Amino acid sequence: MKKLRKAVLPVAGLGTRFLPATKAMAKEMLPIVDKPLIQYAIEEAQAAGIEQFCLVSGRGKTALIDHFDVAYELEATLRERGKTDMIAMLDAMKVQPGSITTVRQQVPLGLGHAIWCARAFIGDDPFAILLPDDLVLSETPCLEQLAQAYAETGGNVVAVAEVPRDQTNKYGILRVGQDDGRMVEVLGLVEKPKPADAPSNLSVIGRYVLLPEVIGHLSQMERGAGNEVQLTDAMAKMIGNTPFHGLRYEGRRFDCGDKIGFLEAQIAFALKRPELAPAVREFMKHYQDAV
Ligand code: UTP
Repeated sequence: MKKLRKAVLPVAGLGTRFLPATKAMAKEMLPIVDKPLIQYAIEEAQAAGIEQFCLVSGRGKTALIDHFDVAYELEATLRERGKTDMIAMLDAMKVQPGSITTVRQQVPLGLGHAIWCARAFIGDDPFAILLPDDLVLSETPCLEQLAQAYAETGGNVVAVAEVPRDQTNKYGILRVGQDDGRMVEVLGLVEKPKPADAPSNLSVIGRYVLLPEVIGHLSQMERGAGNEVQLTDAMAKMIGNTPFHGLRYEGRRFDCGDKIGFLEAQIAFALKRPELAPAVREFMKHYQDAV
């Protein structure tokens, strides 16, 4: 079994649910408290042992790449002003030179197409996918949990969570085989099924470990739900040929591409910060009284 060293981070979506904020700025640069979504994703991948990152980006996304560059003028000014704590913080987020690659997805034809754009980076290796707008607050970083599951099974593993029955049409949904409460055998995958047609209410969230075979299926460029090239459809074609499991990860997931999920994440992550939590609790009392 090959070690998991690579991660693909698709960031080429239009982020229409967050307009007008995303008109000129990438959704993945939106901060939760004081850190952009993309940085949470890179740090989570690093914690899982990922060494090489590929950002699938599109027009107007250069800030995402610049975020991981050295900011000479800023650092020089901070040094002049003796802001050693801030310099240390910037130093801590530096990545290995050459470890971030970017490819362009010129037209956002869907998540599956975005992953296919990273095919040269993936080569013959297993790889992780992190959708940065899905943020998971957990004891063990979500991708690390998946990497452990991959080490156990040697096959495809996706992070899964129960969703309300009436919301299956927003997610990739599993047809479930054996289920030990932690790992579930995946017998089928359907993208955005109507509640009446959904084979379960177990959905895939934005963390995956996949075998490179998925690229061959994506190359077919078949259009699925929403007339997009869906990753779910290509993953479904691997079922039966290679092990495929869903992992009920430990943690709470926030869909930060959605306004309510984003707002909830702000509160949840702020409450984890000892220097912020008391003030947040205090102002929340005010809003509790107001409703
Ligand atoms: P979303 O389904 O959240 O779509 O994509 P979106 O375009 O980003 O946002 P909305 O729905 O218009 O508000 C899930 C992930 O897949 C990436 C997105 O950047 C996000 O990380 N994606 C999606 C691409 O990279 N390319 C695509 O063609 C579609």
